Amino acid sequence: MPEIEIEEEDYESQLTAPVLKRILGMIKPHWKMALGFMVSIALTSMVDSYFTFLNKEIVDKGILLSDFDQVLRIAKIYGVFIIVQSGMVFGFIYLAGILGERVQYDLRKLLFNHLQKLSLSFYSQTAVGRMMARVTSDTGRVSELVTWGILDVTWGTVSIVTSTIFMAIINWRLALIVFAIIPLMILTAVQFRKRILVEFRGSRKANSKITGSYNENIQGVRIVKALNREKENLKEFQGLTDRMFKTSYKAAWLSALFLPAVQIVSSIALGIIVGYGGLQISTGFITIGGIQAFVSYLTFMLWPIQDLARVYAEMQHSIASAERIFTMADTEPEVKNRTTAIPAKTLMGKIQFDHVDFYYEDRISVLSDFNLKVEPGETIALVGPTGGGKSTIVNLLCRFYEPQEGSIKINGLDYTDYTLESIHSKIGIVLQTPHLFSGSIRENIRYGKLSSTDEEVENASKIAGADNFIQEMSKGYDEEVGEGGNLLSVGQKQLISLARAVLAEPELFIMDEATSSVDTLTEALIQKGMENLMKGRTSFVIAHRLSTIRNADRILVIEEGKISEIGTHAELLRLKGHYYKLYTQQFRHELEVQYGVEEDPRLTGSAVSS
Ligand SMILES: Nc1ncnc2c1ncn2[C@@H]1O[C@H](COP(=O)(O)OP(=O)(O)OP(=O)(O)O)[C@@H](O)[C@H]1O
Ligand SMILES: [Mg+2]
Repeated sequence: MPEIEIEEEDYESQLTAPVLKRILGMIKPHWKMALGFMVSIALTSMVDSYFTFLNKEIVDKGILLSDFDQVLRIAKIYGVFIIVQSGMVFGFIYLAGILGERVQYDLRKLLFNHLQKLSLSFYSQTAVGRMMARVTSDTGRVSELVTWGILDVTWGTVSIVTSTIFMAIINWRLALIVFAIIPLMILTAVQFRKRILVEFRGSRKANSKITGSYNENIQGVRIVKALNREKENLKEFQGLTDRMFKTSYKAAWLSALFLPAVQIVSSIALGIIVGYGGLQISTGFITIGGIQAFVSYLTFMLWPIQDLARVYAEMQHSIASAERIFTMADTEPEVKNRTTAIPAKTLMGKIQFDHVDFYYEDRISVLSDFNLKVEPGETIALVGPTGGGKSTIVNLLCRFYEPQEGSIKINGLDYTDYTLESIHSKIGIVLQTPHLFSGSIRENIRYGKLSSTDEEVENASKIAGADNFIQEMSKGYDEEVGEGGNLLSVGQKQLISLARAVLAEPELFIMDEATSSVDTLTEALIQKGMENLMKGRTSFVIAHRLSTIRNADRILVIEEGKISEIGTHAELLRLKGHYYKLYTQQFRHELEVQYGVEEDPRLTGSAVSS
């Protein structure tokens, strides 16, 4: 059964100076917006605190003294500030939305751009799901961190500070009592939140195990059924669900207890204020409005204090997301331009593999001391057993990877002395499993040269032999190919890829022939298209098709990373070595079908020179 990978990594991280610096760096281009955001939050919160102060004034100076003029005067101030505050609230909610979007856009662009630069080695090591998680959910989390982080921190700080100031203005002695109680409230909140977090984390872990178990049982349903494992699996599954239930239950219980606990502590504070203050009203120590204001301010402060732990926990998650994004953005492409690289003028020169050693990330040698000289315009066919290293040779030639030892030379110069772009722009490649992008056939062919006209696209298709089948489609060149081209057959996809390559007019043409059987007509079309493309170009073809092999200037038999035989078709047949065996075994049947003969004279090598 396949190993199930939960792509959403679920870990937390502490805010460190370098990460903070980079997060701030992301806000920097939008600093005006961020500043506006913070100012409007701060003002909203300040006005809130001031309203509470005005309430006190209304009660003490207006209502209690039955002074209607005072009430009206304060009401006017109220009105002005309500207008100001409405503007601010509109501003910060609007800015929160935009700022978040901007940051997310920047991050996604950064990642997308960087992913395109990364070498194939990165792609073969990193699961697609993981890359997608970076670009989608992690960027979302970081943009939330930026907006909600700024919002919570600014709002919380400003309301605590302004409440404190107003309380001190109203009655500093009573304020001191409140300050003594605040640490107790913070402590209660933090302790509870910590416990709740632990339980939540446990339940999350159990949850991802359940998802994994679901996945495995669904994916492996045939095996489960065949081995009669339903009952045991159910038992296992129930065990997991039980564990999840227990941790969730605890978390729910603690959460339910949390609010009352904080409330009890704050009620004690309120009790003291109302009790102590109330007793002293007659002495003029505090006014009724003053007590009322204190009660309100205490509630104001309660909110950020209660929220502190939640915000902190959420931040840890988002910071982990930010770290993962930065790690990906920091991954250096293994294949990149040397600082002294110059553009290659042409690839139509001698190509030489000079004592090339190569291994993939697993460090198991694939090619060792590989040597080959190719003349301009030559067609090289690569044949040989699976895993022999044919695709690897082509990967190196395209500079998707670079040799660890030795060098690949173009016109006598190490190809790492040239820029990657100049090499890639002169290579046309058709892969074993050709990839099309969703869109129309026309768009897919035009991908080979974005500036081409419709006429050029159609001409290229004619040369590639793709025009006929395209014309037969109901919408012709405007037919949609579906995601990855999955509305077309493999043969059709190859024909479109060929047309794309023709349009690009490469100097070096590389083809990994499809082994999957296409019908004889399509095969003939592909063959014709290939021949047209190879004319006047240096070509490397990983060959399965008889005609390609026969017409190649040289055939290389690649076994275990070495050239075991090299020569023309006729030469290799005469050699009666591996190629002869491969050819007779693999292609006899094909010949029989094609020519209707039992024993083709060509197999002896005597009649080959077409
Ligand atoms: N990305 C990779 N990471 C690690 N090892 C790889 C990678 N790609 C290929 N290999 C290994 O390198 C060796 C040569 O593989 P290669 O793909 O070049 O063979 P091939 O001749 O093209 O085979 P086939 O005819 O099946 O396409 C194999 O042992 C293979 O397992
Ligand atoms: Mg291959």
